[in-house]
Amino acid sequence: MTRTLITGANRGIGRALAELAHAEGHKVIAAMRDPATATDLPQGITRLKLDVTAQGDLDAMEHALASQPLDRLMCNAGLGFRKDRIGGDTGTIAEWQAVMAANVTGVFMTISAALPALRRANGAKISIISSQMGSSTLAAGGAYAYRASKAAALNIGMTLAADLKAEGIAVGIYHPGWVRTDMGGTRADLSAEESAVGLLSCLEALTLDQTGGFFNWDGRPHPV
Ligand SMILES: NC(=O)c1ccc[n+]([C@@H]2O[C@H](COP(=O)([O-])OP(=O)(O)OC[C@H]3O[C@@H](n4cnc5c(N)ncnc54)[C@H](OP(=O)(O)O)[C@@H]3O)[C@@H](O)[C@H]2O)c1
Repeated sequence: MTRTLITGANRGIGRALAELAHAEGHKVIAAMRDPATATDLPQGITRLKLDVTAQGDLDAMEHALASQPLDRLMCNAGLGFRKDRIGGDTGTIAEWQAVMAANVTGVFMTISAALPALRRANGAKISIISSQMGSSTLAAGGAYAYRASKAAALNIGMTLAADLKAEGIAVGIYHPGWVRTDMGGTRADLSAEESAVGLLSCLEALTLDQTGGFFNWDGRPHPV
């Protein structure tokens, strides 16, 4: 059975990913800051406390994963921050640090803590949920902190792909679409379920030949 861990799995895209993977027969570990916020997840999904910016939670996750292989890791947890603009409301240093801690350091540290378990699997795969706003080619102005954080997450994914390819671990980086969640808002194009279907099938289709690639939720290549 495919063992799959998803971060930020209590709501939004992460929750849809957890429910879909469970329905498709994965053994799902739904990681979230506060497991009490998702007591209504389907039975059979394991809830794990994980704030991706908390060293204690990361250590506990590494320990909890120690005995079994982990086949799939989906780094979905993320913090939006759209107010900042040059020459106006730049946001505070503390706000920037919070976005970088969740979207950049959190991604890297989660993968680092899960790596021993990923190494025990045969052909493990890692999904990093970045954003089209992390594309330097498509830079459109504004939202500096969020754009920079998602560009860094993309870069981390590409760098990890280079490091982990020889071990047979593939890394895909994804734009999930514009999705109707607390972050995406009610006017977005896709439901969380539609995005999850695309993201999960993209990860299943990912090969070592494509490792380090940046893709849309529906599998189309995304400009870096
Ligand atoms: N929605 C879109 O249109 C869109 C577009 C492009 C990219 N994305 C990316 O897709 C991912 C999911 O977004 P979403 O739309 O589902 O957002 P969302 O509804 O705001 O959910 C964000 C999730 O991330 C979790 N999270 C935030 N900081 C965390 C931390 N430090 N540790 C652990 N979990 C943390 C939240 O947990 P709490 O409930 O505890 O806050 C929540 O589960 C994010 O990485 C986002 O940047 C979304």
